Amino acid sequence: MKYFIKTYGCQMNINDSEKIKGILQTQGYEPATKEEDADLVILNTCTIREKPDQKVWSHLGEIKKLKSKNPNVKIGVCGCMAQRAGYEIASKMPFVDLIFGTKNIHNIPKLLEDVKVGNRAIEILEEEDPLENILDSYPTVRDNSYCAYVTIMRGCDKECTYCVVPFTRGKERSRNPQSILDEVKSLVDNGVLEIHLIGQNVTAYGKDIDYPFYKLLENISKIEGVKRIRFTTGHPIDMTDDIIETMASLPNMVNHLHLPFQAGSDRILELMKRNYTKAYYLNRIEKLKSKVKDITFSTDIIIGFPTETEEDFQHTLDVVQTVEFEQVFSFKYSKRPNTPAYHMEDDLSDEIKTDRMKRLLEIQKAITSKLMRRYENTVQKVLVEDKKENTYIGRTTTNVWCNITSSNDILGKEVEVLITKTGFQSLDGVVQNIL
Ligand code: SAH
Ligand code: SF4
Ligand code: F3S
Repeated sequence: MKYFIKTYGCQMNINDSEKIKGILQTQGYEPATKEEDADLVILNTCTIREKPDQKVWSHLGEIKKLKSKNPNVKIGVCGCMAQRAGYEIASKMPFVDLIFGTKNIHNIPKLLEDVKVGNRAIEILEEEDPLENILDSYPTVRDNSYCAYVTIMRGCDKECTYCVVPFTRGKERSRNPQSILDEVKSLVDNGVLEIHLIGQNVTAYGKDIDYPFYKLLENISKIEGVKRIRFTTGHPIDMTDDIIETMASLPNMVNHLHLPFQAGSDRILELMKRNYTKAYYLNRIEKLKSKVKDITFSTDIIIGFPTETEEDFQHTLDVVQTVEFEQVFSFKYSKRPNTPAYHMEDDLSDEIKTDRMKRLLEIQKAITSKLMRRYENTVQKVLVEDKKENTYIGRTTTNVWCNITSSNDILGKEVEVLITKTGFQSLDGVVQNIL
């Protein structure tokens, strides 16, 4: 039996898919290289904005054709959209055999039993399941041999008014620290060099188990073989001095941070219920810049939240210009079911949102170009994670892609690279030293 998983959405979904693959392999499934060759096709969905929803609906339309060609193929839908709208999917798409949400991935073996005998298996849990920790005992099938995602917490207790995640991922729950450390140890024993800790709100890690995030960072840092530690995503409000000091002091902590600010206007931030002001956010950035050597930033921004005026938007542009992010991910506001902002009128036209997005991206383009030029003739540490034809590819500690020429085999190694050329998206360089 062969499976194929198509994953939408964020790193949480990517890592969940890696886990689902691990579970399926314990059930005797093997990977298929394409959908058409699989006996079981699973869509791991995202519902953060309306667009990802539409993508899933349209892909389900395609998959229906697959099923009419081969009636034996089983179709599954899971992830955030399944958690939010699983029953709607079940009724609109009667050919879907298996639907489960984000809180019962560990129940896949049981659900598959049902599917195998020709039943439809639909299970969406409203409450978190205390048994979900058994997920940790399943293997994880990863594509990248050198950089690994490690989920350290699930859910989110923040109440950002635009956001569907608290409804799709449930309450915040931190994974047992020993289980995380064991996983990290086994990853480095198997050749992984970079540990990327993930969760919707990792800076809040450990609040429920009285084990602060900075302590987890310290303990991971001590594990021999961990060359790099990254984490995504942090919330500015939980970005405490403790964490900043720890980032500054650990030798294997990277000097890059993704810290979404969403909007620059205090009035909009309050409507979004982000619980900070523009000045507070800029203070965190200042502190990070002063403590962590050569730190770079990326961020998320929402454009056109209800009632956003041109003046509000100018504050967003001001933050972009003040911080100088290397990368900005901007999204037009999209009204989501269940969220507190759902009752607010989505009053800004698509034209205004598009215009603001265009202006923001233009400003950002100039900043990125300027920041990229800084790398010219510098020596950067790069962790080489891929090879395409004769070029090795890796990321700097600041999270910039780098193409490297080398006569030695440097795959899976950390190397010092002299940057010879800077582009908009990536750098080119030659190896100086293998570390
Ligand atoms: N937990 C992370 C991000 C979660 S979602 C955090 O708090 O930063 C990823 C990004 O999607 C968000 O940072 C936000 O910029 C965007 N997003 C979330 N809900 C949205 C919505 N309703 N409309 C547009 N963008 C949204
Ligand atoms: Fe959504 Fe806010 Fe939680 Fe991020 S912190 S997942 S934006 S509710
Ligand atoms: Fe999407 Fe769910 Fe991630 S809604 S962004 S896949 S947490």
